[in-house]
This record gives sequence, C-alpha cells and structure tokens, in this order.
Amino acid sequence: MKTIIEPFRIKVVEPLKMTTRAERETALQKAGYNVFLVPAEDVLIDLLTDSGTGAMSSEQWAGIMRGDESYAGARSYYRFEARLQEITGFEHIIPTHQGRASERILFELVGGEGKVIPNNNHFDTTRANIEHSGAKAVDLVIDEGRDPRSRHPFKGNIDLDKLDGLVKEVGVEHIPCVMVTVTNNSGGGQPVSLENLRAVRAFCDRHGLPFFLDACRFAENAYFIQQREPGQADRPVTEIAREMFSLSDGATISAKKDGMVNIGGVLLLRNEELYIGARNLLILTEGFPTYGGLAGRDLEAMAQGFEEVLHEDYLQYRIRSTAYLGEKLLASGIQIVEPPGGHAIYIDAADFCPHIPRSQFPGQALVCALYRHAGIRGVEIGSVMFGAHARMELVRLAIPRRVYTQSQIDYVIEAIQEVHAERDRMRGLKIVEEPPVLRHFTARFAEI
Ligand code: F0G
Repeated sequence: MKTIIEPFRIKVVEPLKMTTRAERETALQKAGYNVFLVPAEDVLIDLLTDSGTGAMSSEQWAGIMRGDESYAGARSYYRFEARLQEITGFEHIIPTHQGRASERILFELVGGEGKVIPNNNHFDTTRANIEHSGAKAVDLVIDEGRDPRSRHPFKGNIDLDKLDGLVKEVGVEHIPCVMVTVTNNSGGGQPVSLENLRAVRAFCDRHGLPFFLDACRFAENAYFIQQREPGQADRPVTEIAREMFSLSDGATISAKKDGMVNIGGVLLLRNEELYIGARNLLILTEGFPTYGGLAGRDLEAMAQGFEEVLHEDYLQYRIRSTAYLGEKLLASGIQIVEPPGGHAIYIDAADFCPHIPRSQFPGQALVCALYRHAGIRGVEIGSVMFGAHARMELVRLAIPRRVYTQSQIDYVIEAIQEVHAERDRMRGLKIVEEPPVLRHFTARFAEI
C-alpha cells in the first residue's frame, strides 16, 4: 500500500472555534502583532509548537489514573526510571518539570563566566540558560545547515573543523562540554547522523571533553538515521536510539516532544559527581529526586510515551506527514528549509516576501498574515527570536503529535498558497515594546 495512515483512531475530540477575519484582525491588534499573546481559543490550527501539545494514548491516560502520588519512592517513578534506563542505557535518570529545568541545572554545574559551550544550533532556552550562567553559547552547524536549499540528508551535523577551530581559539580548558541537538530544532528540525555523533565522541575523547545531547526529538532523529544513513536501514530504531545515547555523557530532554506528554523533562548523567550536584540542585528548585517537579501521574504518562514514540509505524506516519506538508508547499513554489524536517516545516520568509527587509521582520509579518487569513498560528524563528544571531528568516509550522488530520493539513496548505498569491500586500513590522531576554514571547509590534 502507498497510503500511509494514522496508526491510531480517535476516541476523544475537542471542538475548534471558527472565527471571522474581522475577529482575527482585532485579536491580532490586541496582541500587538505577537501571536504568543493571542488567546489559543481564537486559533483554528495551532502550529505554534510541537511541545506539550500532543495527544496522549489510551494507555497514557490509563497511566494517569495509576499514578502513585507518594512524595518519596513512588511506584510511578520506578516505572519511569526503568523505561528510561532501557531506552537510553543511562543509570542516573533525573525527572524535571521540563527541558529548560534540565538545562538550568546542567549549566549551573558546568557553565559560568569565561566558559564557551558549542552546539550545532542552541535552542533559545538553551542559549539563554548558558548565557544566564555567564558562559557563551556558540553555534557550529555545518554550512549546508545554513542553506535552506541544500538537500544534505543530515543538515543538523556539527562541523568538526569548526569545533577544532574553537578549541584552538579559546583553549580546551574554557570548554566545559560539547553539545549536539537532535534533531536540530533551530536549524530546521534537521537530523544529525550517527557518523557525526560518533565523530564528536572521538573528538571529545581526544580532548578529554564531556559530550551532551539535547535529545528532545531523539526518536525522530533515530528514524531519520534508519531511513537515510548507509548501513542503518536494517537496524531497529530502538537500537539506533540506544547507540545515540551510548555515545554521550549525558542529555537534557524535554519530554514534551518525543516523550509524548503535556509536561515533563529528563536529565541524564553518567558522571557520579555531576549527578550528585544535579540531584542537590533538583531538590532545591524542582523537588525530591523521585518526582522532580512533576506529579506521579506525569511520570506514568512519560514512561508510556517514551515507549510509544519508538514504534516504527508511528514514526513512519509522523515523519511522512510532516514531509507531506513540506512537499506540497515546495511544489507551489514556496521555499522551505529543504528537505522537510521531523517535527516542523520552516518557510523561508525572506524568500516569501522579498519586499520586506530583515529589519522589518519578514518572518513575523508572515506569521501575522497566516493568522489573519486562516486562523493558523506559526512562530517566527529569525531576527525577532535571535536578534543579531539570526542566520535565516524562518516561519516554523510545528506539527503537534497525533493531533491534526490530513484534511486539516490540506487546509493549511491551501491557506499558505492563498497568502503567497497576495504576498505583495504584506507589510513589515517594527518593535514597540520588548523585554530584556527571550523577547519573542512578549514583545509587541506595530505594522509599518
Ligand atoms: N531544547 C530544544 C531543542 C527544544 O526544542 C526545546 C523546546 C527545549 C530544549 C526546551 O524544552 O520547552 O520543555 O523547556 N522547544 C519548544 C519549541 C518550546 O517550541 O520548539 P522545554
């Protein structure tokens, strides 16, 4: 069969509210042209993020009922710990309330003034937590990863020559660890090859450096390795994922992605001393080590979610349905980051509306146009989010896991095609109010 279907059926539905164009125009003005500030109720198809927005399975909901809410030593924790040990091979499994809590703990231990931490591309919270510790975050993705048109199969790879250059430039003693984000969210949801991860491991061994993964989307990355990397086609995704983790000394994970839950995170560590330090910080701000800022029921849902995400029929449906959206847009002459990523499609907004200069935020203008036209919410990943660090002006359409049907995605495609046909009417924006950090969440804009 050529048709790939959703490997599930729908048991519970949530109605969507239809709005008029005039209502959306008012909502946009009230929100200062920042869709983070638009009430979700006024959004029809919400592609703001794939984080914490997935649908849980009947087994996960059953786990929610089974949750053991004991303060210490809850049964749900041991189930979660055993599942994560099985998937990752790590002994020390620390639950946190979400990915950035894992980051905050890790960088409080390894970051600090004068340190430099390389990554393929740091996600915004990772960069912010590193900078908050006083350290510097550096992006070293391969050049193909910065070219929206390059069809390189592993555009998330970190550039080993650039990494070597950094070690020579700043000195190995100033680099507390090397990080690699799988898949590379800020670089278009692009995967990292096993060959690249093995090479980073060898590089770190030569220099005595620890190697950490930002493993939010590890299952999607493992599936891409199976599909695209020579010699990997016959290996189960579980085995590939296990090897990815085995190459690292630790990982920060937001379980809101491939953990298939609405809230949760994990911190994995191999080094005993780091683990003890992390556990102490965890108790300080997250909670006792067997719940780490979560309810017992959340740990049950995570234990089950991390198992389901590695089912290959699920991953085939997941990666194929993202590619479907991307390929339809490309076929209509809309430039996206090619090839389609795992969890999202990234439209090249600079190419979409070349009449809007980068200083007037073409990505933000496109985000507003999609909301105004069809109630679709995407997110700008460009000069608004990264300021001067921005390499591209992108609009990300992230696909929540197991949430939207193919006809809803067809609606999204049609809406983007219509906005594209009238793109000359889109206007640039200027910032009228902005906070000192992570400005994209709360900044307000005005149309020029
Ligand atoms: N690392 C990566 C690669 C991420 O994509 C995210 C979150 C985090 C860390 C932080 O995790 O939100 O649980 O604290 N990404 C979401 C997104 C927010 O929309 O891409 P968190």
